[in-house]
Amino acid sequence: VTTYLEPERILRLEADRVVFLDQRRLPLEEVEVSCRTAAEVADAIRTMVVRGAPAIGIAAAYGMALAAATGEDLVAADAVLRESRPTAVNLAWALDEMRADPSAGHARAIHHDEVERCRRMAAHAAGLLGPGTRALTHCNAGGLATGGYGSAVGALLAAWERDLLAHVWVDETRPLLQGARLTAWELETAGIPHAVIADSAAASRMAAGEVDVVFTGADRIARNGDTANKIGTYALAVLASHHGIPFYIVAPSSTVDHAIASGDEIPIEERDPAEVTGRFTARNPAFDVTPAALITAIVTEHGVHEPPYERSLEAAVVAA
Ligand code: MRU
Repeated sequence: VTTYLEPERILRLEADRVVFLDQRRLPLEEVEVSCRTAAEVADAIRTMVVRGAPAIGIAAAYGMALAAATGEDLVAADAVLRESRPTAVNLAWALDEMRADPSAGHARAIHHDEVERCRRMAAHAAGLLGPGTRALTHCNAGGLATGGYGSAVGALLAAWERDLLAHVWVDETRPLLQGARLTAWELETAGIPHAVIADSAAASRMAAGEVDVVFTGADRIARNGDTANKIGTYALAVLASHHGIPFYIVAPSSTVDHAIASGDEIPIEERDPAEVTGRFTARNPAFDVTPAALITAIVTEHGVHEPPYERSLEAAVVAA
């Protein structure tokens, strides 16, 4: 049986606090951070104590439930959480969900349902693979990013459990190293053979014939299939297309933004340039948009959505 992180270890709601496994300190230290107000939860999201699109949404849901339980102003709590990070639509989705019922039970149900969606989409994604697959992934779309099991890394876990996966190339993911720190740690925990590579090494591994498939997660998917994910994902999709390698996005339907027609409307977070270098002037766009034309298929809990995405993504709605 594959070992993976328990959802409650990643984030959970207690009577007077939301508790997070501090993702900034992994893999060196396993330390928890407690937040006692919605503003503190928003701060944990902003500073990436918790990160990854579905996990950010779950964190916000817990922030609202905490605010309701402790008698905070819910309009203010919603506002401070909503502006904590701009790109992942799961944040707004979870806050919209919590408006009608900001209870602890509802927030926990959102967490539970996201993990279940991951398991379902992972099974669909594993069905795309043959034996001996050598996969490449970017950033961390594992249990840490989704509150349990993972989207793209969930697909790798499901493939491993079905004996279809031989090896995973893990992009280190500059500048915050979610791949080298978090994905590698999760794959090690699961016992899956892997090697961390510099982001710029992906091209030569593909040219050498050592990559059969690319799986990444997503932070927001537009109606036409354009997909925002961690900076560097677009480059990988271009490389995969050049080398004739399938490029799959694995994400829950809570990541599909049916309100926007294309990736042009996705807000791209610019983070502190000091994350790139403290010595020189820098720019730090944290996400990029991969055009739908470079995406072989988008896998949600509903199944494998193929182009044209306008039509196939209509089914990608969160089931009530
Ligand atoms: O800045 P981060 O670490 O929150 O960015 C996360 C990603 O880009 C992930 O790949 C994405 O959220 C999908 S995670 C299921």
